[in-house]
Amino acid sequence: MGLTAGLRPVAALAQDDAAWTGARGMLELQGLTRRFGATVAVDHVDLEVPAGQMVGIIGRSGAGKSTLLRMINRLQEPSGGRILSGGRDVTALQGRALREWRRDCAMVFQQFNLVQRLDVLTNVLIGRLAWQRGWRAAMVLVGGRFTAEERAMALAALDRFGLAETALQRAETLSGGQQQRVALCRALLQQPRLVLADEPIASLDPRNAQLVMDALRDVNQRDGLSVLVNLHHLDTAREYCDRIVAMQAGKIVFDGTPAALTAERVRSIYGITEQEFAAEAEARRAAERAPAPLAVA
Ligand SMILES: Nc1ncnc2c1ncn2[C@@H]1O[C@H](COP(=O)(O)OP(=O)(O)OP(=O)(O)O)[C@@H](O)[C@H]1O
Ligand SMILES: [Mg+2]
Repeated sequence: MGLTAGLRPVAALAQDDAAWTGARGMLELQGLTRRFGATVAVDHVDLEVPAGQMVGIIGRSGAGKSTLLRMINRLQEPSGGRILSGGRDVTALQGRALREWRRDCAMVFQQFNLVQRLDVLTNVLIGRLAWQRGWRAAMVLVGGRFTAEERAMALAALDRFGLAETALQRAETLSGGQQQRVALCRALLQQPRLVLADEPIASLDPRNAQLVMDALRDVNQRDGLSVLVNLHHLDTAREYCDRIVAMQAGKIVFDGTPAALTAERVRSIYGITEQEFAAEAEARRAAERAPAPLAVA
C-alpha cells in the first residue's frame, strides 16, 4: 500500500473544494425544522454559511442549538426543510453518501466522548475509522492495525496542540482541557470540511476553555475549516467568532457580527441582562456536572 493509502486524495480535494466553496455555498439551511411531539425544537431556520467562517450559536436552554447542529450532520433527522452543500441536498443522502457527509462534518461534544481506557493516540486514530469500512474498521478496532501514515498523522495532530507527550497515556489520565483537544485531534483525523462543536468548553475552567477555543480558531484559520460552535459565554463568542447567530424558541433572532451583538441587544432579545444570561447558563452546566443525588430508601 502506498504511503497515503486511505487518505483523501489531493485531486479529489481540489475537485471537492470547488463544490464546497463555489457559488452554491458550503452550507445552506432552508426552512430547517425539527419537532418533538408538540415541541418545535428548530423552527424554519434559514442560514447560509460560507466556507471558512467561524460561527458562534448562542441561546438560552432549549433554544434548539444542539438540535440544529445534530441535524446538520444528520444525527437527528429534520421534520422539514432542507440542508444543502455545494448544490447537493444533504437531507436526501443515504448509505455511502451519508457516511461521507458525516465524515465531512466532524462533531465535538461537551463531554469529549473519548474512550477513557484507551490511550490518547488510539483515541485520535479512531477519527480514521470514518475512512474505513466493514472488515478493515473491525480489524483496526480489535488489533490496532492503523497504518504508519495514519499514526504519523495522529501524532502530528497531537503535537500541534502540545499533546504529543501524552500519546501513550490512557485518556482518563488527562485533564478536561487536554481531553477536549484530543477530541479535536480525533475530529481532524476525519479530514473534515466542517467542525460542529456543541458546547465544547462548557465543562472546562477558563484557562482550558481558552486553550480549546484557540485550537478551534487555529483549525478555522490555518486549515480553512468552517466551524459552527454552540456557546453560552457571549464574550467567548464575540472574541472568537466571525459571526454570531442567536436562537430563541427554535428561531434565529439575531445574525450578525460580534460588534453588533451589544449588551442592549442581548437584553432586548432575551429579556435578561448579559450577566443573567451567563449566570443562568453556568447554573445549568453546574447542575449537569454535579453527581446524581443518592436515592433515599
Ligand atoms: N430527543 C428529544 N426528545 C424530545 N424533546 C427534545 C429532544 N431533544 C431536544 N428536545 C427539546 O427540543 C428543544 C430544543 O432542545 P436543544 O437540546 O436543541 O436545545 P439547546 O439550545 O441545545 O439547549 P441547552 O442550552 O440546554 O443545551 C427543547 O425544548 C428540548 O426539550
Ligand atoms: Mg444543547
